[in-house]
Amino acid sequence: MSRTPLVSGNWKMHLNHLEAIQLVQRISYELSNHDYDKVEVSLHPPFTDIRSIQTLVDADRMKFKVGAQNVHAETKGAFTGEVAPGMLAKLNVSYVIVGHSERRQLFDETNEIVNAKAKAILKNEMTPIVCCGETLEQREAGEAESFVESQIRGSLAGLSAEQVASMVVAYEPIWAIGTGVTASTEDAQAMCAHVRGVVEAMKKGTGGSVRIQYGGSVKPNNATELLTQPDIDGALVGGASLEADQFARIVEFGQN
Ligand code: PGA
Repeated sequence: MSRTPLVSGNWKMHLNHLEAIQLVQRISYELSNHDYDKVEVSLHPPFTDIRSIQTLVDADRMKFKVGAQNVHAETKGAFTGEVAPGMLAKLNVSYVIVGHSERRQLFDETNEIVNAKAKAILKNEMTPIVCCGETLEQREAGEAESFVESQIRGSLAGLSAEQVASMVVAYEPIWAIGTGVTASTEDAQAMCAHVRGVVEAMKKGTGGSVRIQYGGSVKPNNATELLTQPDIDGALVGGASLEADQFARIVEFGQN
């Protein structure tokens, strides 16, 4: 089954809305010959930038998918400081990252919370990008596979086969995020294949459809090798997504 790769730029807490507009324009220029049907591209700015980017993407008929980095699971209510899924859907947001390791580690997001958020995103007709990934200690102790499996099982619990088939999982080993250390191509491919197997075991018939991204220090010089692996269907890019030329080269991964 052919899966369209998805390359996503996770801007984290960088760029105000004016800077964001400039970056999107630069990326669009860098990718003026890109075939977005071949490789899909989503941009995940901070919440305060989304409306500006949505307006720009619509007005200039850009082919980027607008994304978010987080969301609350509830529809509305007394949750000071939170953003509801319906608010993102109204801004034409297509993809929402959930369970990024920074949110799991710094904001105590558990698999249960990630699961509730994934359900809320799907209910609002957006696509979750559910993140998973082990620490260096877990990898060295030989626990990486079982830990990632428990994250996937917890985060995807109770979803229908149709929902699971439509979603995206991002495998991001924590030790590779923002460190310049990438997982070896073999390790990245092996874990993405493992994740696909876990998804298939959870919901029969979904393993061939679910898209699995690799994330963690993806750069232009390692993108081609990583993204041409059979079980890696794109990348979740942090640092390099803030540089238009670097991000564009990753999106192209040697295709143009
Ligand atoms: P990085 O971040 O590309 O800077 O390692 C990836 C991520 O956190 O999604």
